[in-house]
Amino acid sequence: MDRFIIEGGVKLRGQLAVSGAKNAALPAMAAALLTPEPLQLSNLPRVRDIFTMKKLLQHMGIVVTPSDFPPDGELELRAAQIARPEAPYDLVKTMRASILALGPLVARCGQARVSLPGGCAIGARPIDLHLKGLEQLGAELRVEHGYVNARARRLRGSHIHFDKVTVTGTENLMMAAVLADGETVLESAAREPEVEDLARLLRAMGAEIEGEGTPTVRIRGVSRLAGARHRIIPDRIEAGTFLMAAAITGGELEVTNCDCRHLQAVLQQLEQAGVAVKEKDAARVGVSGPSRLCCADVSTAEYPGFPTDLQAQYMALMTQAEGASVITETIFENRFLHALEMVRMGATISVEGRQAVVRGPTPLTGANVIASDLRASASLVLAGLAAEGETVIDRVYHIDRGYERIEEKLRSVGARIRRVSP
Ligand code: UD1
Repeated sequence: MDRFIIEGGVKLRGQLAVSGAKNAALPAMAAALLTPEPLQLSNLPRVRDIFTMKKLLQHMGIVVTPSDFPPDGELELRAAQIARPEAPYDLVKTMRASILALGPLVARCGQARVSLPGGCAIGARPIDLHLKGLEQLGAELRVEHGYVNARARRLRGSHIHFDKVTVTGTENLMMAAVLADGETVLESAAREPEVEDLARLLRAMGAEIEGEGTPTVRIRGVSRLAGARHRIIPDRIEAGTFLMAAAITGGELEVTNCDCRHLQAVLQQLEQAGVAVKEKDAARVGVSGPSRLCCADVSTAEYPGFPTDLQAQYMALMTQAEGASVITETIFENRFLHALEMVRMGATISVEGRQAVVRGPTPLTGANVIASDLRASASLVLAGLAAEGETVIDRVYHIDRGYERIEEKLRSVGARIRRVSP
């Protein structure tokens, strides 16, 4: 298993370009299941979850070209026939987002067999809302031997109210409803930019959708969808991670190829912490870290609030801020595993339920730490950049799931970080 070795204490300086958003790319790839015609996707990030989704689609009989992943991040996906409408356990266990195949498979093939994802490091993460919504659209579901078996002659439009806002749940039901008979209304839908991006793609394929980006999405089903070309939006979580990496080292960084509209909550939070933020144009933002950060509380929330996927990185930042910051995690019940690792590096953090109190600034010292999930690993990289001495991060396969060559990108702006393979 690869490890990262980081020598901390260098201020990051320069410019970094953001890759395409993993969380927009995954549903976009699943949307290829909805049409026999080719779907051309560009700006796909070269990260492990995208390779897993590609493998999953190929397992179903979808032709992906070129067969190896091109450096320009462009792939053509053609689901002329779907030989095996199933997502096996081996693939689902490495990537929960495989569940995104369920909605499109039932809509296009009238049947699907998808492994249940089970728990994960950040909480129970059930998929009950995906399943309830599909039943409301007329699918018959049976859960057996760890798999969801779904059947439907043709899905029918319905009025679906989500009890909780769910990002992939909204995406899954959007993809099911586009080929259903009649109108579907999704209430309390997720408003994330990744949901909007999927709606744009589905519309380009011929779907009738309106209201994406608001809590009410309306979909009028059509009998078939066509191929399309689509460029994936920039990764707002990667952008936020780089901005915080610059801030924690007191450096000066310009992040390019991003979409500043999607970063507003993050930029405001950084300003509250004393970071100077400058939006240079719609796709470029600069930050310069102050000599002393100030404490600022944050609560994660659904978009347009502060993203849970940046909570861990923000916690690393607050270890270097003057005073006590209260970090409240409202989306996932067990998303503070990184706190324990940061404490091992010298941070003062106490966790109680869904709240963590970080008292700073505390000098961090390099240590051996273990990455527990994707974003937690990113937060440990940030802590390592700020720490004195050497930090060794184990299990970096987590970070490779969602960040494209993070060590090369950070090295290009001065970080001393290297990957060591056994
Ligand atoms: C997506 C993102 C993930 C991000 C999360 C929240 C992708 C591939 N992943 O995950 O990076 O952290 O949104 O912004 O886009 N829930 C239920 N029942 C369900 C579905 C969800 O109770 O059927 C709960 C979850 O346990 C969680 C909350 O709803 O507490 C939000 O989860 P959800 O938005 O579904 O997260 P994902 O779509 O899995």
